[in-house]
Amino acid sequence: MKLRLLVILLLLIVLPSSLYARWIKDRVSFNTESVGTVEFSHYNHLEAIGNNCPTCHNQVFHVVTSKNPTVTMAEMAKGKSCGACHNGRQAFSVKQDCSTCHPTRDILFKEEETGDVTFSHDAHTAMFGCRECHPDLFTPGKGNPRVTMDQMAEGASCGACHDGSTAFSVEEDCENCHQME
Ligand code: HEC
Ligand code: HEC
Ligand code: HEC
Ligand code: HEC
Ligand code: HEC
Ligand code: HEC
Repeated sequence: MKLRLLVILLLLIVLPSSLYARWIKDRVSFNTESVGTVEFSHYNHLEAIGNNCPTCHNQVFHVVTSKNPTVTMAEMAKGKSCGACHNGRQAFSVKQDCSTCHPTRDILFKEEETGDVTFSHDAHTAMFGCRECHPDLFTPGKGNPRVTMDQMAEGASCGACHDGSTAFSVEEDCENCHQME
């Protein structure tokens, strides 16, 4: 008797939770022109807020994704889209913690002769917003043309800032960027 009750209880509680989390797609992605792809995890969110679809659907996000407008960070900061919860109270704020939603990595520029260059996003995002570089100076992802040091000295690519006043110059301090042995 007791065992049957336990089994029924288990079925009632565990099954819906696990089913909910299995029949829907975990990851949905948002593709932005300026800063690349943002991934949203259904499973992580259902774990954090409970298996409660109406919390988001269809008030905050329509399940027919084409019905969702594209939203800017400024609109999110006013409570739209992810900002409905990511406001620093219910969850970490869209005004901070950019990299939790927009993961960035170090970028390696291979240079056989002069030595490889590693660009650190972390070092730069501590000083600048994404917009300072994307998409005008660099499109996120493949497709940026290779740039010569001469072009940089005229203000292209890294040279937009590394001009000897905003940051150390591309015409000196080679070893600040190039791994020279
Ligand atoms: C924390 C918010 C949140 C919760 C809770 C949530 N979703 Fe979603 N869901 C989203 C977002 C964000 C999208 C993507 C919207 C977009 O791409 O514009 C989405 C998209 C979808 C889609 C469309 C996927 C596609 O690629 O076409 C379906 C179906 C869906 N959700 C079902 C569910 C179900 C069922 C539940 C409850 C078990 C649920 N969602 C709970 C935020 C949520
Ligand atoms: C909770 C997750 C989340 C956080 C935190 C977050 N973003 Fe976003 N961001 C998104 C999503 C999702 C989109 C795409 C929205 C869309 O396409 O509708 C986006 C879009 C953008 C865009 C393109 C749209 C625009 O506003 O120009 C930029 C730039 C951007 N984010 C920068 C940032 C910066 C900088 C921070 C930190 C101050 C940040 N984001 C924090 C989720 C987040
Ligand atoms: C219904 C409220 C709600 C909405 C809407 C929501 N989130 Fe979240 N999110 C949470 C909570 C709660 C957590 C966990 C608590 C925390 O980390 O502050 C979380 C955690 C996260 C995390 C860290 C865990 C992980 O999955 O890696 C990311 C990234 C994230 N959210 C992205 C987004 C993005 C992108 C959107 C919009 C497309 C969004 N969230 C919309 C409530 C929400
Ligand atoms: C100081 C300039 C600068 C800033 C600020 C900056 N980036 Fe980048 N980003 C770059 C450069 C340089 C690349 C590499 C371009 C290339 O591969 O040619 C890059 C590449 C990327 C890529 C593609 C990476 C890949 O894996 O191929 C993404 C996504 C990206 N950035 C997102 C962001 C986001 C999100 C922010 C803000 C939180 C940001 N970036 C801030 C300079 C910057
Ligand atoms: C701010 C960082 C930075 C500094 C400082 C810098 N470089 Fe570069 N350099 C790069 C990057 C990044 C590339 C790769 C660019 C690409 O592939 O688009 C590169 C590419 C090159 C190349 C191959 C392209 C070409 O112009 O022929 C040479 C050679 C080179 N650097 C030499 C130098 C020398 C010599 C110095 C010092 C006088 C120097 N660099 C200072 C970042 C830097
Ligand atoms: C939006 C302006 C801006 C752009 C674009 C930019 N930088 Fe920087 N960078 C800075 C500033 C400011 C500093 C810190 C000041 C200083 O050290 O002179 C810095 C510091 C650095 C440093 C030293 C800190 C560290 O990461 O160890 C390196 C290396 C560097 N940048 C490489 C690059 C390369 C490579 C590129 C191009 C792919 C680039 N930067 C593009 C502004 C920029």
